[in-house]
Amino acid sequence: MCGIVGATAERRVADILLEGLRRLEYRGYDSAGIAVLNDKGLEQLRRVGKVQELTQAQAETGINGFAGIAHTRWATHGGVTEANAHPHLSSNRIAVVHNGIIENHESLRKELQGLGYTFNSDTDTEVICHLVHEELKTQGNLLNAVKAAVKKLEGAYGTVIMDQQDPGHLVVARSGSPLVIGLGIGENFIASDQLALLPVTRNFIYLEEGDVASVTREAVTIFDHTGAQVEREAIVSELQYDAGGKGEYRHFMLKEIHEQPIAVRNTLEGRVNGDKIALDAFGEDAEAIFRDIRHVQIVACGTSYHAGMVARYWLEEYAGVSCNVEIASEFRYRKSHVFPGSLLVTISQSGETADTLAALRLAKTLGYRSTLTVCNVASSSMVRESDLAFLTKAGAEIGVASTKAFTTQLAGLLMLVAALGKANGVDAAVEARIARALASLPSKLEEALAITQEIEELAEEFADKDHSLFLGRGDQYPIAMEGALKLKEISYIHAEAYAAGELKHGPLALIDAYMPVIVVAPNNELLEKLKSNVEEVRARGGIMYVFADRDAHFESDDTMHVINIAHVDEIIAPILYTLPLQLLSYYVAIIKGTDVDQPRNLAKSVTVE
Ligand code: F6R
Repeated sequence: MCGIVGATAERRVADILLEGLRRLEYRGYDSAGIAVLNDKGLEQLRRVGKVQELTQAQAETGINGFAGIAHTRWATHGGVTEANAHPHLSSNRIAVVHNGIIENHESLRKELQGLGYTFNSDTDTEVICHLVHEELKTQGNLLNAVKAAVKKLEGAYGTVIMDQQDPGHLVVARSGSPLVIGLGIGENFIASDQLALLPVTRNFIYLEEGDVASVTREAVTIFDHTGAQVEREAIVSELQYDAGGKGEYRHFMLKEIHEQPIAVRNTLEGRVNGDKIALDAFGEDAEAIFRDIRHVQIVACGTSYHAGMVARYWLEEYAGVSCNVEIASEFRYRKSHVFPGSLLVTISQSGETADTLAALRLAKTLGYRSTLTVCNVASSSMVRESDLAFLTKAGAEIGVASTKAFTTQLAGLLMLVAALGKANGVDAAVEARIARALASLPSKLEEALAITQEIEELAEEFADKDHSLFLGRGDQYPIAMEGALKLKEISYIHAEAYAAGELKHGPLALIDAYMPVIVVAPNNELLEKLKSNVEEVRARGGIMYVFADRDAHFESDDTMHVINIAHVDEIIAPILYTLPLQLLSYYVAIIKGTDVDQPRNLAKSVTVE
């Protein structure tokens, strides 16, 4: 989703801004822009399309300056045009970049038009720059003008504002969209994600909700939501960003698929010891909190929601704890019942997804016993705002389609199952079984990747298809859903997932020789039921691709292509069966020639509703 970079320095900052934008490209965007302050005043450059085009335009025009702001836009209000790209200007004096959505933009726009302001875009953002310009008339300086302006904004914003008459001074404000300040020596930076600033600093201050900050070359001054000046702790980032990026791989997604054995190994390291799961992986108070837990409510979006759905099967079967799972955008807007002793669990790669974060904040007002997040970003809002956190150690995930974040989430959730089971008095053998199964997982994932070539060949059969159906049962039903999501988001083939038992209640009508049916079939107690479902498809002339445990005895024939998967303890089978489905969608997308790492219309971190 949208990205922000800002810099104030003694050196010219265009290269820093553009490199920052390049590093945020993975988040998804459709246009990019930059504004700098120099002897000529405020200069602005915007392009529809890739950051590369903006970089080329900057090289051609030579636009540069000692302070600047830059942005990648993912359209929400107004189409993908140069006029709608950020930064936006007011009277060639104020420049603004903004992530988020200003919900009361229509009334503010009318008010500002009444005051004589002309709008040059269809965006909600443009109200911010005219509003700040208007406030400057009475507030006297940029900082006070921004403080006054943000009081009038409703909605979400992470915004950076520059005043042509106050060179070298950037004012930033955060409410609902993350912003981080990067500390340099005699220079300071701003970004929506620290990844953007790693070439220039490793020292970061995370702004909190409601913060407004004044950033100059020499100083950073922060005010909280009450207007009081506050100190926020600076942290040293250990995040690695390999600018070479893809290594031997053609795409980040393929690299990240292949990184799963090591990502899972890193996630388990020091946390699974012999037959035991280390409770402190969830936070200092985990042991005491888990003893009180009688129910789990999971809230998440997209792929992370699918991880939550798998966890529900596990929690009820192995930990004896009841569990509900809900999509965050639904949970946050309905009245829900909170069971006594409930743990609210959010699952998120980024830790910034707007709906999941809003659900967490809502839950904190509803009487949950505690909140826990399973998250991949240690510095994220969700980690900072939850009572407990399990950090997945997937490393930076750049491909928009989530892969290694999902499998590491599942590993973490399985540890949670063991921990809650233990706290609930479940037999120690369950913890031991989970610990051993998890320990075997990295090498099993490596084995699963060995079938890459077989899947690459299989992908050819999907290239001319418009639709597909994924089937699974039990804890493999969410894996079928995840397989369908991966295929649709990166190959643009319509893919639906069903619990196989539901076939005869409607979807069987879709079956014909042109509809590929993908089945996930581990060797578990539902195998015979699943085999009956497979026969229902075969009888209607369907063509099937069955990912099956080699002991499940499926045989390839004219209507069924069987891909054998190594046998594992069924408890970890959902994690293992994810990989071939990721590979399938990747190779189908390659054949279709789509933009695998940045699929159309999608963003990596969805920080707006
Ligand atoms: C799909 C995908 C998305 C995310 C979803 C939630 O491949 O990546 O569905 O899973 O946007 O994002 P996080 O996990 O960051 O909360």
